[in-house]
Amino acid sequence: MMKDIARVLISEEELHRRIREMGRELAAEYEGKDPVFLGVLKGVVVFFSDMIRAVPIKSQIDLLAVSSYGAGTESSGTIVMKKDVSLNLEGRHVVILEDIIDTGLTLKFTVEHIRKMNPASLKVCTMLDKPARRVVEIEADYVGFTIPNEFVVGCGLDYNDYYRNLPFIGVLRPEVYEK
Ligand code: IMP
Repeated sequence: MMKDIARVLISEEELHRRIREMGRELAAEYEGKDPVFLGVLKGVVVFFSDMIRAVPIKSQIDLLAVSSYGAGTESSGTIVMKKDVSLNLEGRHVVILEDIIDTGLTLKFTVEHIRKMNPASLKVCTMLDKPARRVVEIEADYVGFTIPNEFVVGCGLDYNDYYRNLPFIGVLRPEVYEK
């Protein structure tokens, strides 16, 4: 697996340090508000499990599955809902957790979907932000790392569903997806 990685962009240690930092900020903002941490599957699984454990306050979790990518590195542009939330989010303080914001289409779709459920508040926390590729105007409230316009894998992020288990964020060798 490692031979397909051109270089490490964010190490495991850097990522965990940043997650602990954001965890402290989220705990300070949401203590006593009984928030719901809502993960957007399936790229978020690794970040989600690290992030929720970094926020030691009373809270609930839920998961939603949407998909915009086919088997490649370019978004198809069409977002499909594959699994909806199971909690009633009306009147709740909701924090959407995302793996990466690229074009922003997935997040826009998710935010619009959750807004219809009338949460008391809605914020977004993303592990990575790739602002260079944005096609819709949308920003996260909490950003782990802003990254350059490169296709990355690891910590839940995949290419063709591979590399999700890498413990760091790495840049995939273009030969892997160009062949
Ligand atoms: P967006 O709708 O274009 O913002 O894309 C969001 C989704 O695309 C993310 O949740 C990822 O699953 C996927 N994605 C975007 N950029 C990358 C990348 O560099 N590596 C792996 N997946 C990515």
